[in-house]
Amino acid sequence: MTIIDGKKVSADIKAEIAREVEARVAEGKRRPHLAAILVGHDGGSETYVAHKVKACEECGFKSTLIRFESTEDAPLDPAELMATIEKLNADPDVDGFIVQLPLPKHIDEQAVIEAVLPEKDVDGFHPVNVGKQSIGLPCFHSATPAGIVELLRRYDIPTRGKRVVIVGRSNIVGKPLAAMLMQKAQPGDATVTVCHSATEDLADICREADILVAALGRPGFITADMVKPGATVIDVGTTRVADATRKSGFRLRGDVDYDAVSPKCSFITPVPGGVGPMTICSLMQNTLQAARAKD
Ligand code: GUN
Repeated sequence: MTIIDGKKVSADIKAEIAREVEARVAEGKRRPHLAAILVGHDGGSETYVAHKVKACEECGFKSTLIRFESTEDAPLDPAELMATIEKLNADPDVDGFIVQLPLPKHIDEQAVIEAVLPEKDVDGFHPVNVGKQSIGLPCFHSATPAGIVELLRRYDIPTRGKRVVIVGRSNIVGKPLAAMLMQKAQPGDATVTVCHSATEDLADICREADILVAALGRPGFITADMVKPGATVIDVGTTRVADATRKSGFRLRGDVDYDAVSPKCSFITPVPGGVGPMTICSLMQNTLQAARAKD
């Protein structure tokens, strides 16, 4: 059994990106510039955005963090957020930007996603990028699925003709990953099944998977009896569970019962240190791609 080391792969990719950025700068080109909008103080979002800013530094990018306060007593006016998005859309110095999700409930998340110019949508969430991705056109790929595909590529895990089962049909993981892995490409060319809360005989379907992807957000959901011996298991779950032994008071748990499942696998991603670090890497790759497109 091989533990897929997302931390190491992401460090390698960030070093590759940093080398390209320095070569660009030596040629007189601008550093890629990523902006991030963070609304409120959701703990997970604060952590993710801090990691994104740090990754920008590691890659030699310029980064800008724009914060908005929003509380129940003083909710952010959505028009203010939209005005900032318009400003970033029009700013020639910004190559790409993201609005960290989730947003407070009073803000229409889909309207925000659609307000970002597709050429600057380095999250790959805009319907234009989603549509292009689904028909295999060049676009910004959504970060988590792109990170998973990169791990499969770098660990030489075959996908062609293989049975992939994805548990979870979210717009940011399950659906785009299914599109990418069924594409006539390498990695790709897989036979993909997407399971969800209404799926019957879920365990039977999971047991058929050569590559099983758990992306439903339920800690420990995938148990050993659901995994075919020798399968590759990709765990996208990152649920915070209480842990009094940690300074933070919590730890991250994946959707896979790692201790029971890992001995059965050929490859498995740990949580943390598997898919998570790759997601940020993909965002950096997309931002570099956005900068290159403006050369
Ligand atoms: N919230 C959880 N994952 C993501 C992501 O990849 N991008 C943004 N913008 N928000 C998120």
